[in-house]
Amino acid sequence: MTVKTLIIGHGAREHVIGETLVRDGATLYAFMSSKNAGLEDLSQGRIKIHSETDFKEIIDFSKKNNIDFVIIGPEAPLVVGIVDALEKNGIPCVGPRIEAAQLEGSKLFTRALLKKYKITSNIRSKSFNSMENVESYLKDLGVENVVVKPDGLTGGKGVKVYGDHLYSKQDILDYCQALIKQKSPFLIEEKISGEEFTLQTFVDGKNVVGTPLVQDHKRAYEDDTGPNTGGMGSYSMANHLMPFITQNDVDEALEDMKKVIAAVKAETGIEYKGFLYGGYMKTVKGIKLIEFNSRLGDPEAMNVLPILKTNFIDVCMGIINGNLKSNIEFENKATVCKYLAPEGYPDAPKKDELVKIDKNKLKQIDARYYYSSVYRKDDEIYTTTSRAIGVVGIANDLESAEKIAEQGVGCISGKLFYRKDVGTLELLQKRIDHMNSLLK
Ligand code: AMP
Ligand code: GLY
Repeated sequence: MTVKTLIIGHGAREHVIGETLVRDGATLYAFMSSKNAGLEDLSQGRIKIHSETDFKEIIDFSKKNNIDFVIIGPEAPLVVGIVDALEKNGIPCVGPRIEAAQLEGSKLFTRALLKKYKITSNIRSKSFNSMENVESYLKDLGVENVVVKPDGLTGGKGVKVYGDHLYSKQDILDYCQALIKQKSPFLIEEKISGEEFTLQTFVDGKNVVGTPLVQDHKRAYEDDTGPNTGGMGSYSMANHLMPFITQNDVDEALEDMKKVIAAVKAETGIEYKGFLYGGYMKTVKGIKLIEFNSRLGDPEAMNVLPILKTNFIDVCMGIINGNLKSNIEFENKATVCKYLAPEGYPDAPKKDELVKIDKNKLKQIDARYYYSSVYRKDDEIYTTTSRAIGVVGIANDLESAEKIAEQGVGCISGKLFYRKDVGTLELLQKRIDHMNSLLK
């Protein structure tokens, strides 16, 4: 009898999770707020289209179909307690309970936790819910060293960094005022410099097992210009590191995450189980935490799951049962993911535009593709207002993987754009030079 798994979520991250489950022998079901054509095909129509935060409907659908376990893809259901609700009904989940999901849901919670437990990846920060003491804290940090972050989920769009989005003390004060007006508590934190990397991990309550490092590209346009987005593409290297991030750095970040998991347990009494995404920056002062996500990354899930060698169902069962093995294996391959987004994304995306996909050619060149925010009508794919399709190349080295991704993008046409520079050796060299210039 096969294992019946339910995926919650409707994007490219969930598409690749579903693909990996089916590859490893699961019978897939999908519960999503809008229909992902990839998940519809993989689950052979065993789907429900409904709000991803409607606990009752998710529980009913799981019970009706005798689901063995549920994987929660996005953060929104996690931070309102979907795992608590499912577990109360005897349905095992891959994902943290509400208290533990605060690592993503509340930046104030996370910074306070790191401070209390003296976790060294922490940086200077202070929380506010009025303008009281804001000016004096700005003076303390220095206006040019400031980042302002609303407390809750912002879809990657609420964080404003001095020099990128804020250009004067007045800009900072105006943004703080705007947040107060919206009744959103916020953090002012120290702006740090370095190279960012994503460390996605599997966590079973105690053990934290790392996956290959990935670097995402948040800015909309080439050369890291333009507005912040959900992520325009990402790459990983065949040795699972980055040329500017060593194994020692990874070990430091993994140790850090273990301490955080222990701190969550000490603070809330809850064991963290599920995926934990560490967004770190390597700086002259060591590895520093930018943010945690209580789920896999999008696009980063598309870099690691396709090269997972260990059976994914066994990994999920290890997370659920608290006996995750430490020797989870990945192929020594490089990966490049390029996201196609509607023209005008993120500010004025063109929706309902036809996307033509040459599936045979994609197959020929062995490029993978994952549907994000697109819909299928009469067997044709159309854009919505968010990222459209993630195209992934996998090969023995970065250069070859980038070529496959680039050829793959060429098989898809429509009113779309993407970043040609993601995964290129030129961009990689810029990152290396940047890190070297800081470490000098
Ligand atoms: P977040 O939503 O927390 O990931 O922030 C979005 C982006 O803002 C990150 O990917 C970083 O590039 C940048 N950022 C966030 N916090 C800091 C910080 N303390 N110093 C420098 N850059 C930051
Ligand atoms: N790639 C960033 C995220 O998943 O939040």
